[in-house]
Amino acid sequence: MKNRVTELFEIDYPIVMGGMAWAGTAKLAAAVSNAGGLGVIGSGAMRAEQLRDEIEKIKSLTNKPFGVNIMLASPYVEELLETVVEEKVPVVTFGAGNPTKFIQKLKEHGIKVAVVVASDSLAKLVERAGADTVVAEGMESGGHIGEVSTIVLVNKVARSVKIPVIAAGGIADGRAMAAAFALGAEGIQMGTRFLATVESEVHENYKKRILSASIRDTVVTGAKLGHPARVLKTPFARQVCDLEVKSPEEAEMILVGSLKRAVIDGDIDSGSFMAGQVCGLIEDVPTVKELIERIMKEFFETVEKLCREVISC
Ligand SMILES: Cc1cc2nc3c(=O)[nH]c(=O)nc-3n(C[C@H](O)[C@H](O)[C@H](O)COP(=O)(O)O)c2cc1C
Repeated sequence: MKNRVTELFEIDYPIVMGGMAWAGTAKLAAAVSNAGGLGVIGSGAMRAEQLRDEIEKIKSLTNKPFGVNIMLASPYVEELLETVVEEKVPVVTFGAGNPTKFIQKLKEHGIKVAVVVASDSLAKLVERAGADTVVAEGMESGGHIGEVSTIVLVNKVARSVKIPVIAAGGIADGRAMAAAFALGAEGIQMGTRFLATVESEVHENYKKRILSASIRDTVVTGAKLGHPARVLKTPFARQVCDLEVKSPEEAEMILVGSLKRAVIDGDIDSGSFMAGQVCGLIEDVPTVKELIERIMKEFFETVEKLCREVISC
């Protein structure tokens, strides 16, 4: 498939792996890139040297383009940026904030820049600052979220900017990809779906929980603390929500390291299992290649079916 997103990233399919702290390892990202999508290393709270190791690892696993996600909430943004420039990383995706002051420097080094946005105003701002594309991420997503749903956000952002829009939040199959394209997106980004794949290195408990979750089994923690995140509904998530009201300091304290405890230890009692509402649509653990091929096949079938059977065009 050829469109502005595949041409921008020099990939076969307009399918991007969402940056995921702890879960977005070089191994999973390489599998996505090798399958024709854009694999992205989640740098999360890494220091420069840890990121360099992951970049070296992905370079040993694929010769296809890949990206690094930088969370703007990280205290190490500057050193991570130096590392991606030194390592000549093809693509940087920014999450959780406004990266306008960093965009030009990356572009001067030939790095393509994608920015995750939760509003049309930020989309316009980063377009003016030189971003190559925006990822419009709706609030059904796993991880840190904004306030607007994917269907409204993608529609609005696609009408507001000229650069290509990638849709994220609630997408796990070719039908949702077709819906996103109908709204004006030219690519999709997925997080939760990639967690339940063979190459994903999250703990088995994490994969099992995603497989058994229904579409109503997520909850937003941290909203009252100013950093809302969608996670699986566990007793720990409920405890966080209760503490946010009774004792915000304690809530902050128990959240520290909680994503790591879920991803690495599969710790049901004190881990934050970040996942989107789309977990209720995930029923198997395919390889990344099987998944991407399945999504593309279903995407084309859906578009064709709509045309042939639904609207008789
Ligand atoms: C476990 C997990 C960790 C995440 N960590 C990050 C992150 O570090 N940086 C970021 O920009 N987005 C992060 N996200 C959001 C994803 O990149 C992606 O945009 C989101 O998962 C898309 O929604 P979906 O889960 O419905 O596919 C995370 C999501 C999950 C599920």
